[in-house]
Amino acid sequence: MKDIDTKTLSWDEWDELQRPALATTDFDAVVDTALSRRGFLGGVLAFGSGAAVMGTGLLSGTSAQAQATSRFGFNAIPIATDFTVHVPEGYTWQPVAKWGQPLFSDAAPLSQETGVDLASSDRVFGENTDGMELFSIGGRQVVAVNHEYVNPDINLPHTGGETTSADDARILQNMQGVTVMEVAEGANGWDIVVDSPFNRRITQNTPMTFSGPAAGHPLLQTAADPDGMIVLGTFNNCGSGKTPWGTYLTCEENFNGYFGSTDAAFARPDDYVRYGIGLESRYGYEKFDARFDVSQNVNEPRRQGYVVEIDPSDATSTPVKHTALGRFKHENAAVVVARDGRVVVYLGDDERGEFLYKFVSAGVYTPGGETSSLLSDGQLYVARFATDMTGEWVALTPEATGMDAAEIAVYTRVAASRVGATTMDRPEWVAVNPVAIEGYCALTNNSRRGADATNAGGDAMQAVENSPNPREANRYGQILRWFPDAEDHAATTFHWDLYVMAGNPTVHQDANAGSANINEGNLFNSPDGMMFDSSGLLWIQTDGDDSNEEGFAGMGNNQMLAGDPVTGEIARFLTGPNGSEVTGLTWSADRRTMFVGIQHPAAPFPDGDGKLARSTVIAVKKADGAVIG
Ligand code: FEO
Ligand code: CA
Ligand code: CA
Ligand code: CA
Repeated sequence: MKDIDTKTLSWDEWDELQRPALATTDFDAVVDTALSRRGFLGGVLAFGSGAAVMGTGLLSGTSAQAQATSRFGFNAIPIATDFTVHVPEGYTWQPVAKWGQPLFSDAAPLSQETGVDLASSDRVFGENTDGMELFSIGGRQVVAVNHEYVNPDINLPHTGGETTSADDARILQNMQGVTVMEVAEGANGWDIVVDSPFNRRITQNTPMTFSGPAAGHPLLQTAADPDGMIVLGTFNNCGSGKTPWGTYLTCEENFNGYFGSTDAAFARPDDYVRYGIGLESRYGYEKFDARFDVSQNVNEPRRQGYVVEIDPSDATSTPVKHTALGRFKHENAAVVVARDGRVVVYLGDDERGEFLYKFVSAGVYTPGGETSSLLSDGQLYVARFATDMTGEWVALTPEATGMDAAEIAVYTRVAASRVGATTMDRPEWVAVNPVAIEGYCALTNNSRRGADATNAGGDAMQAVENSPNPREANRYGQILRWFPDAEDHAATTFHWDLYVMAGNPTVHQDANAGSANINEGNLFNSPDGMMFDSSGLLWIQTDGDDSNEEGFAGMGNNQMLAGDPVTGEIARFLTGPNGSEVTGLTWSADRRTMFVGIQHPAAPFPDGDGKLARSTVIAVKKADGAVIG
């Protein structure tokens, strides 16, 4: 690896550094032993759901760049390697909300010289935008958006990025979490409505309550909260979800990295090992705030790693952490109502060799009815896949796991291992098709597949032919799809296939060439964010290697593509600035604007003023004002 300033790494890059991938030189040797491309296509990629056979009528080669198709209202664009955003001809983009932009008129904006002052740090748009959802409330448009992590360098310019005091820690804690903001479109396009009564920052210190089986349990009790019912803050807010009753779900992903020990002799309990909780945190909070010092507060990390529900219509409402949805590195939460009205939430645990989950509520959703127990009372399941392209959702019950309901909620990974869940290639976003009964999960990559015998829980992690995770040292990722039996999301069995296997057919002849719907015109790696539009097109965002070299040649910067679930066709719609991840997607109420998140650009963005590289939510429109989703 090149010289690395760890403070500037994205969270994924930092994670990679903790547990390095195979050396590049080993990579080609390893993939030689993987499935042949032909064998893979013949076995796994038979298209389900009555869809056309992939490869038939698909765009091929560079013709994709010049050809519009029936379902996509745009001409696919080429890759980019520069430092700005590109959209198709006939579309425009503009910044809406930038890191450090005030939500309130009394807040000082981010300055390159001094960062954001402490008093303003929970009154401006936070850093590293991620999952987001738009809510139409009384004719006003309110966006809830996550701030996944921070770059200490620019937030703490007076220390060069080191956390040297409780105030420094507090600035970092305030720049993460969630923003709720009203946005409006005026003569100059979309902007934040400063001082809107909906505007709110939720930080790593905002009080919230627990619900579900672990609420009040001794595992969640601390000296500061002896009842185990009130927790401060939400951590590493990654993907999002939206309930039918108009609330926002923010998902706590790599919460483990915020905790450390001031006592080097602290012996980590087994669950710390499984969840990757170490003795030193990424930002050094534990040196200034005992809450983050596990030698003093062993239960504090057990109070993080959940899905949190926020009511965007009331800036004074108290967020709720739902333990019934399990504790793991939550990516996002895809909510859908089953045939009988029960609420189904699909959930991924983004770590190499961790699992895919589903929650089914006990009660049913009735529009306008009582919803307060729908995410606190229900059954959590984990997915087990078979090589005959069937699968089952295995209920995580006390009988099946030997753990009580609270332990299942807190040590969910352990419970899932006990029932033989299938180890996955890092489940990122899950999305549910609004016009067909099917779910999708982006399995972003897994460089350790086959290199490590097991995940952290001892579950086998070899590559399995005809499984959702068939490639060793998987660098490109794939998108899994499942079809619930009886066309019911509450069903406990399903069939599955792979919607796409990303790869590079210009470099590889084997399984790393990817599936037949990958061609020179739509190369990408590491699918991550995913969202369906109202017409049933799947929008795919990437968070991968943007070196544009060797195995990644021809892929360019991270990007957003549209996928047709029926034909398998995939076309590139947007390219992000070099160094950035494209993550987070939602639409205006009239669906004429698409809001897209640009996280951690490497060079000045979006202003081109030669100064700050700012994570930014942008608005994309069609120049003629047509509906785009
Ligand atoms: Fe925050 Fe797994 O992405
Ligand atoms: Ca990321
Ligand atoms: Ca992600
Ligand atoms: Ca990712």
